[in-house]
Amino acid sequence: MQIDRTSIPNLLFLSQGSRLLAILGAIFTIFAFLSASARGEEITRGRYLVEALMACDNCHTPRGPDGYEMSLRFSGGSQVFSEKDYTVRGSNISPDQHAGIGAWSDTQIRAAIIDGVGPTGRLAPVMPSESYRALTPQDLQAIIDFLRAAVPVSASLPPQQKRGTLEPRPAIPGAEAPFTDADLSDRLKRGLYLASLARCMSCHTGESGSAPDPRGRLGAGGKLFRTPAGVAVASNITSHPTKGIGAWTDEELKRAITHGIGRNGAPLAPTMANLSRAHFSKMTEEDVDALVAWIRTLPPRE
Ligand code: HEC
Ligand code: HEC
Repeated sequence: MQIDRTSIPNLLFLSQGSRLLAILGAIFTIFAFLSASARGEEITRGRYLVEALMACDNCHTPRGPDGYEMSLRFSGGSQVFSEKDYTVRGSNISPDQHAGIGAWSDTQIRAAIIDGVGPTGRLAPVMPSESYRALTPQDLQAIIDFLRAAVPVSASLPPQQKRGTLEPRPAIPGAEAPFTDADLSDRLKRGLYLASLARCMSCHTGESGSAPDPRGRLGAGGKLFRTPAGVAVASNITSHPTKGIGAWTDEELKRAITHGIGRNGAPLAPTMANLSRAHFSKMTEEDVDALVAWIRTLPPRE
């Protein structure tokens, strides 16, 4: 066999080129793997926030006899919220291109979640954006990534009806603006963050006149819930020794939050117990500790 001398430099060139290609290919694979696993972590964090704390399903997933219809997850809630200024249901927030938010940009989804503003204007304040304003930029992105990774469902809802000016609700004091990662490593700030995301105070805050009073009556309770299972009154969870939870042990308080069981060992009313079962039971030990530590800082109120 004769080797054509002129082809030798060519061969060398080729083998160098394919070596280069192989190296580039390996680098690409490593990067793709790293970014997929970073995305995987984001989605896991988003799932945790949504499932253990923020309970988006509560308003955005239809319910059947056994609880949430997970095969139709995020395709719109069963409950209709009707007030003077609006009649709305939790929208389809599945990633369907037409019925859901699949075609929305991240900026649009962000505006809906933390500012309560949709593509055609203010959302009804049932969408609790005031509780989500505290989200760190990373956590907000993790929620968006988790929503985008859900299964698209093409169910359309009847049009939402909005009549008056829709005023945003006040956030709880200290949770009006995005938190930082450093805030989350401070136990009390973390507790406040979790209480805001889980909307504890949207039920447990007392009213002055007929308006919720987060400055004067945070945690004082008194709000009435009428459900098919009966009437429940949101408890006073301030540190008051007899009217609130001041005399409870940490263990009793944790059991109430994560298992929906009262101090006397009896189940709490479904308004609280259902949230405990479906959501708060999924909180990490560290988060429950931080939440309890923060609740204990609520000044005693009657
Ligand atoms: C207490 C009920 C409730 C909870 C909890 C809730 N939402 Fe909503 N949300 C609504 C309602 C009702 C609307 C529709 C408001 C309107 O159209 O004016 C809405 C609207 C939205 C929209 C705008 C959709 C559109 O088509 O206009 C997005 C996005 C959204 N919610 C995301 C979320 C996410 C993410 C969570 C959880 C982190 C969440 N919501 C938790 C009730 C809720
Ligand atoms: C949808 C409204 C709602 C939300 C949100 C909510 N709660 Fe409750 N909670 C209630 C109601 C109503 C009761 C009273 C149940 C009963 O009387 O059996 C209650 C009871 C409790 C109790 C028992 C107090 C007692 O005196 O028996 C604790 C503790 C508590 N909630 C803490 C929390 C915390 C912490 C959060 C947030 C992680 C939270 N709740 C979120 C409505 C709510």
